[in-house]
Amino acid sequence: MDIQEELQTSVGYLRERGVGEVDIAIVLGTGLGGLVSEIEELMSFNYSQIPNIPVATVEFHFGKLIYGKLGGKRVLAWQGRFHYYEGYTMEQVVKPVRISKLLGAKALLISNAAGSLNPDMKKGALMCIEDHINLFPESPLRGRNMDDLGGRFPDMCEPYDVELGSALFRVARELDVSLYTGVYAGVPGPQLETRAEYRYLRTIGADAVGMSTVPEVIAAAHINMPCAAVSVITDECNPEHLAPFDIDEVLAIAKKSEPSLTRLFKGFIDRLPI
Ligand code: HPA
Repeated sequence: MDIQEELQTSVGYLRERGVGEVDIAIVLGTGLGGLVSEIEELMSFNYSQIPNIPVATVEFHFGKLIYGKLGGKRVLAWQGRFHYYEGYTMEQVVKPVRISKLLGAKALLISNAAGSLNPDMKKGALMCIEDHINLFPESPLRGRNMDDLGGRFPDMCEPYDVELGSALFRVARELDVSLYTGVYAGVPGPQLETRAEYRYLRTIGADAVGMSTVPEVIAAAHINMPCAAVSVITDECNPEHLAPFDIDEVLAIAKKSEPSLTRLFKGFIDRLPI
């Protein structure tokens, strides 16, 4: 089966079980799955039930797809993403994006946990991603182009939709949620960065660094799906005072920031003119 057939099989399975129109798809990052409790769930699937969907292996990812209503919109929420560092191929990493689009999603909203390289952004801060730097060793678009999905050379002038970004800031102001803006560097991981690498990332213009999102956003650009992404800053990567990475602390900070992120996403979806 080629990738397009695989995607069609997954989409067919979800349609047969009653997944209807989708206004917006949401990919939830590490420790940030709580938004789903706000969804008026119509149906949900464990990833293992859906044909051709790999099973999320990271222990703190649930691997669940929820279809339901949020803020008057029909949402498809992917609780648990596929990270490149887990050994998934890039094609597997971006499957949620492509399936969402084939199900009719008109926009994509992404969250992730990231380390801060910008001294202004402390642990717990939220950052709207305005642009990214791709440091992954391969592209999800490498290989034969899937012409039905998009062109061979998608441009990356504006991979984060300006209108969706402005809408996020409007909602943030309205709800009194503090929101930074910045550039996200996507790295393959799973090892953290050295102090020299943090200096390098800052020098090349990154405000935050993490191990996800960039492949999904490239796939969204290919398929012409407007997207917006927010990083939750879970650690500060100051090369002069670098503390050892503590995954428990990262998860604790993600959990603490989750209510603001959830409020922001919910308010955003509520006001979305889709
Ligand atoms: N690097 C540094 N800190 C992080 C990362 C990363 O990739 N992800 C979350 N915090």
